[in-house]
Amino acid sequence: MKQSKQKQFVCTDVEKKIDVLLAKMTLEEKIGQLNQVGPSTVGGFEISLAEQKKLFDEGRISQEEYQKAIDGTVWDQQEDDIRAGRIGSFLGVIGAEHCNHLQRIAVNESRLGIPLLFGLDVIHGQRTIFPIPLGESCSWDDQLWKETASVAAKEASAQGIHWTFAPMIDIARDARWGRIAEGGGEDTYLTSRMAVAKVNGFQGNHLGEQDKLAACAKHFVAYGGAIGGRDYNSVDISLQTLAEVYLPPFRAAIEAGVATIMPAFNDINGVPCTTNRYLLQEILRKKFGFEGFTVSDANAIMECVNHGTAANRSNAAEQSLLSGVDMDMCSACYIQNLGESVENGSVTMDAIDSAVRRILRIKFVKGLFEHPYAQPHKEKQVLLCAEHRKIARNAAARSVVLLKNNNVLPLKKKMKIALIGELAQNANEMLGTWNLQGHSEDVITLQEGLKQTGADVCYLPCSGPVMAFNRSQLNKVVKGADVIVAAVGELADFSGEASSLSEIIVSNSQREMIEAASMYNIPLITILFNGRPLAIPSIIKRSDAVIEAWHLGTETGNALSDILFGVYNPSGRLTTTFPNKSGECPLYYNHTNTGRPISDARFSSKYLDVPLTPLFPFGFGLSYTSYTYHNLQIFQFDSYIEVSVDVKNTGTFAGEETVQLYIHDLVSSRCRPVLELKGYQKIWLEPADVKKVTIRVDYRDLGFYDNEMQYIVEPGTFRIQIGHDSSMGLTGEFKISTDNQIFPSYTK
Ligand code: NOJ
Repeated sequence: MKQSKQKQFVCTDVEKKIDVLLAKMTLEEKIGQLNQVGPSTVGGFEISLAEQKKLFDEGRISQEEYQKAIDGTVWDQQEDDIRAGRIGSFLGVIGAEHCNHLQRIAVNESRLGIPLLFGLDVIHGQRTIFPIPLGESCSWDDQLWKETASVAAKEASAQGIHWTFAPMIDIARDARWGRIAEGGGEDTYLTSRMAVAKVNGFQGNHLGEQDKLAACAKHFVAYGGAIGGRDYNSVDISLQTLAEVYLPPFRAAIEAGVATIMPAFNDINGVPCTTNRYLLQEILRKKFGFEGFTVSDANAIMECVNHGTAANRSNAAEQSLLSGVDMDMCSACYIQNLGESVENGSVTMDAIDSAVRRILRIKFVKGLFEHPYAQPHKEKQVLLCAEHRKIARNAAARSVVLLKNNNVLPLKKKMKIALIGELAQNANEMLGTWNLQGHSEDVITLQEGLKQTGADVCYLPCSGPVMAFNRSQLNKVVKGADVIVAAVGELADFSGEASSLSEIIVSNSQREMIEAASMYNIPLITILFNGRPLAIPSIIKRSDAVIEAWHLGTETGNALSDILFGVYNPSGRLTTTFPNKSGECPLYYNHTNTGRPISDARFSSKYLDVPLTPLFPFGFGLSYTSYTYHNLQIFQFDSYIEVSVDVKNTGTFAGEETVQLYIHDLVSSRCRPVLELKGYQKIWLEPADVKKVTIRVDYRDLGFYDNEMQYIVEPGTFRIQIGHDSSMGLTGEFKISTDNQIFPSYTK
């Protein structure tokens, strides 16, 4: 196991302080520390009374909670509860003054003065909004991931926040699942690297730094494996898949020192994650050595009643606490029931104390006892400052993936541009899912971005995700144009939580618009704004160039102008496979071969009505220049290999190439993926430059879990593929023999 940063949380000094506090606390005060209060039972956002009614009718919120909603009881004004020590944390209180007001009550008016912990979903920025995580993952840029998290931490902490419910590191192989937008895509290795970068960015070198946030790796675990890609659905997977595909990003986040973990909503193989002792005790605590605290997902404790594994709210609370959930997010099951559970002996005081200890530990390490208050003057200084906008513009440009270019891009400055599509001027949608603090008026839309360059742009919406196709607008706007730029895609809330789709396409009206636009004898450039891979082969076919722009955030229009005019040479690479049709989902590159590998032979594993290859493969992305690969060399050492390759920029643009290294264990005792990403490196190349790239892979990372769930690395031949994306590259082989240092089998 790598050196874990979890040790930072346990120090004698802090433990002694916790002992002193615990000795003074009443049972109610202890349970209060486990209680998080928020605006709604479904998340860090308020929901309408009508929605609350539905939840109540379905038995998903209690009579008391519903009554509070009807009475208009303001959730963050439960000041008497703070005074009584019945609240340990708030979700969704934003603003230095606001947080400080509540904090003063906790510190000065509660018996023990234990500070509150303010949590919020700071997912891809606070006021300065960066690309949605799926978009940002396409930069394959660890430094950038860290930098944007660090900026988000700076802005959020200035607004009184201590803790973010990020990074979301769920592997998502099914694009129908709306929450694919919130994570790093389909690959375990890449998401693990992103997890580390994000934890480092949010938390910094030390959690106690005031402009940092405690991070929360979520959702533990395999939430992305929801059957059919339907949000909140059950997950039914083998333990091997769990261990090899879904758990490693969590292990990486834990080793990087993540302070908190959120169990997922779903059940795995019949046991809800919220009450899953195997996951929360055996894996999380014992195997991965996690020392921080866990927080349930919103209302998830109560939802164990709906899962049918808890008899009632009290039973759900007992099971969750005893399984290892320390803090109750918004279900109130702990505060309402655990007191009685301790009194009747169903829950021991020790179990309560351990959970409280873990929460207090993070409060101490976060420095809340020394610095409980936010500094209001900082809000003005840091929110959306020029430096953060600059980072957002760079992040947005680096997240863009050029999917097609029939020599029409980059554009020349003098061209007359016909700009179409409702999304070209819709600021709000550019902020993407999970935007709580970004303001639409801060956003530079595509239209504004182009205008600011001085380009000759004529804009009419013509169609959109909401608007019907208006042919006469199209005829009007294309008159005299040299090029058509079409903005097409999904609204922000078409992806994210509770936004699964059975068809991952765009609206009919947008398809009509693209079809009509492609009939003019003018180059058509389509820019896609979306939160998931889309199955839109006909749009791709009809366009001369296609830019995948995701929801890019505050600097959308500036970044896209940089790309369109060649100020920035696109370097993003897909982190999810794009299917030809929705029915191919789940679709991912690192599948096993099957006994009848996919081919054009009749009896092979495929669909008859789609091409054999995906619309775009994992790792794919074009550039305004081209690269060639030469001179693959594999150097073998006792416990690792080094793969080196020379990469040449053969075009006329300087650019950044992402060299991707995949392996395939050719013969093994269990079926292994046909390809697995094991390393990548980004390099900058001026035209005609050649650079050698060397990537190291440890043998111990080439193993898998056998039938007894032992991690083993088997001797044998491995194939290497190194190149531009998962569909191409130079290939070579190497062997691991029984002489290599990892044997007898290495255990993870
Ligand atoms: C529910 C979501 O699943 C989770 O990701 C989020 O952090 C919480 N709501 C709080 O908003």
